Formats: sequence, C-alpha cells, structure tokens
Amino acid sequence: MTRKTELLAALALGCLSAAAQTPQTNYDEAKVPPYTLPDPLTMRNGERVRDAKTWNTRRRPEILELYRTEVFGRSPAKAVKLASEVTSVDQQALGGKAIRKQVTVFFAGQEGPKMDILVYLPAGAKKPVPVFLGLGFAGNESVSTDPGIKLAEEWVRDRETKKMVQRRAEETNRGSSASRWPVEKVLAAGYGLATVYYGDIEPDFDGGMQYGIRPLFFKPGQTAPAPGEWAAIGAWAWGLSRAMDYLETDRDIDAKRVAVIGHSRLGKTALWAGAQDPRFSIVISNDSGEGGAAISRRIFGETVQNLNTSFPYWFCGNFKKYNGRESDLPVDSHMLLALIAPRPLYVASAQEDQWADPKGEFLGVVNASRVYELLGKKGLGTDQMPGIHQPVMRDAAYHIRAGKHDITAYDWEQYLKFAAMHWGTK
Ligand code: GCU
Repeated sequence: MTRKTELLAALALGCLSAAAQTPQTNYDEAKVPPYTLPDPLTMRNGERVRDAKTWNTRRRPEILELYRTEVFGRSPAKAVKLASEVTSVDQQALGGKAIRKQVTVFFAGQEGPKMDILVYLPAGAKKPVPVFLGLGFAGNESVSTDPGIKLAEEWVRDRETKKMVQRRAEETNRGSSASRWPVEKVLAAGYGLATVYYGDIEPDFDGGMQYGIRPLFFKPGQTAPAPGEWAAIGAWAWGLSRAMDYLETDRDIDAKRVAVIGHSRLGKTALWAGAQDPRFSIVISNDSGEGGAAISRRIFGETVQNLNTSFPYWFCGNFKKYNGRESDLPVDSHMLLALIAPRPLYVASAQEDQWADPKGEFLGVVNASRVYELLGKKGLGTDQMPGIHQPVMRDAAYHIRAGKHDITAYDWEQYLKFAAMHWGTK
C-alpha cells in the first residue's frame, strides 16, 4: 500500500483524521508543559473529600455536573418510554453457536429515527448471560458475515468520498468490521454481544444532528443546542443507555453484568455513557485519546483545539472556551475515569497511536486510582507505565499493545479476561 492509500484506508475506518493533524502537533515528551491536575478529592470550595459518602453525595455529582456544563453537554433528564420491537430471533445463528436477536427501538414513532440493536447470545446458555455492549462505526452488518443481519437503512460512509451519505448499506459491507468484533470468542467465553450502529442515533458529520435524536428534545422554536446542552457524543452515549433499557427487559440477559465498550470516538462515548449511567457494570475505553482517557493538559498528540476544529459537533458549545487553554479546564480525564469508580474500568492504548497519547491515557487511570482506593477498590497500583503487552488488571486496568489505532483480537482477549475476573467465568 502506498502512504496515500494507507491514509485513505485509515480514514475509511474512521481511524484518524488527517485534517486534524497540524505541524504544531506535539509528539515530544520533553515538550509536555508543566501542569497541575485538578484534585479529584478536593471540592471546588476547597474542602477535602475523605470518605466514600462525601465522594458519592457531593464530589461525584460536582464533577459530573462540570462534565455536563463544560465538556459533553447535558443530556435530557426526562425519562423516555420508547417503543421497541423484536424483529427477529434465530436460535441457530452462526452455525448453531449463537442465538441472534434483532430489536428496533423507535425514538419517535414509526416514522422518526430508530436504532437497530443486534444481539448475539451463546446458544444453550442455562441462565441469563452477561453482555458486552458497544456502538459500531458502520452498520450492524459489518460485525459479521452472518447473512441474517439486517442491513443499516439510513447512513453509510461512502468508500470513495469518505462522506456520510443517506442510503442503505450494501451486501458487500457484511463482515467488513469483523476483526473488531470477535463474536465467536465472546460467545465461547460465555458472554453475549450487543451492538448498535452509531449512525442510527446521529450520523457523524457536522450537520448530522438534524437527522438524529437531538432535535426530538428541542424546545418549541429551538434549532440548535444551547452551549451547555449535549452534542453528538452525548447523543451516542444516550443511545447506549437506551440499548441498556432494552437489555434490562430481555430475560436471557443478565443486565447487572453489562460492559460498555468503545473504540476511539466511541471509546470517549463509552466513558461518558459509563459515567452517567451506573447500570453499566464495567466500562472499557479502547484508544479513546483526547476527550476520552488522555490527560488534556499534556498537550501531546491531539489537543482540545484539534477536537473542536475537526469535530465541532462532538462536544458542547462551552468546550470551545478551552481551545488552547487546557489548563483552565475545571476537570481532566482522570476525573471522567473517576466517575466510573467503584465499577471496574479498563483503559487501553496502542503504541503507534501517538495521536491519542498512550502515556496520557495511562496517566488518566493512574490519577483516577485514588478515587478507587477511597472507595475500597484497587486502583492501578503503579505509576510506572507497563511495557507492551503487559496488562495491569485490578479494579482499574490498563494495557498498551503494539501496533496502530484499532481494536484488535489482543485487546478483546484482555477485556474477556478482565470480565471473567470481575464477573466470574461461566
Ligand atoms: C480522529 C479524532 C480522534 C478520534 C478518532 C476516531 O482521529 O481526532 O479524537 O478518537 O478520530 O474516532 O477514530
């Protein structure tokens, strides 16, 4: 592959945004500026947080509120009653290894936006199974060559132009993301896998909002979110919670053991979903980088300004205030990660994914660890970055693997081990 085709292929996978890289991007550890992180265990008014109760009742809500007003924007609080319809159940999917269910969730009646949930469960399970739930970058049909998967109906990323276009996915898309979804390994470990195409919730482009769910919550006359209201990541995270609403109704699923997982922008989304919705029992961030697990104040790889320039619709309007001013943020990624505590948290990096700042992702977990410990859990237990392929797995976990920005078989093997450690094996 030439460099150009490699780059185009990477763009097609949503792996990197070439446009976002600037000559000023810092990849030199020596140029990381000195910085002081906000203390997760000190209230805004200076009071120290010394016990779990103060964390749970005062500091955690305070940090969550800062993320709502300054970073991701506030999602609608109103509980919604959505219609969901199980459209197919196949007891003999994947050569008899799986039960495949497909469910459509209607956000605003039959005519409005809707999302399709694809669920695979291990065949022959004797009791409700724990599930990994994650959003995908392409239609559900990309997860497997399984011919029974319903094709995405609304949005696809055009192979030539890389732009989102409004049309049905093609048959040839079946299995195109299969390397990212080791369905059979997940099933063999005794777990289920549930996934939703994020484009069903809101298509990922500037202007995509009008086709997604956010306008359903506008006040009369409103045409754009207010500066502190949710943006696309908030919408996708909300969609994950709505998928969880369905999982809770499915008697074949152990909804107390649902891990939310995501790669890259969808890793940022998984973290935000996990932070807001305590029903997710494990939260996994794969290569989530800036705006996810990586410490913003390091100004290494992608910056707040890069994010807000390339993807102005991902984060809320107020987040733009921090372009070039990361040290003014009232939070940093360790506080997003701390919102997951005491639930198990796994953050992973890839060595060649410098844009996402692996060291910054590691330091996010290191600095969230004090909150785990305050809550009687095991933080990472080290501030020395582990070597390649040497996962550290406690209640907070981290690994860095060789290779590029992606979610691979190696990553999933660690997540399955981590789940077994916390959920027990079958
Ligand atoms: C771009 C973006 C990242 C994001 C990534 C992805 O590279 O700058 O913030 O994580 O896309 O989602 O693949």
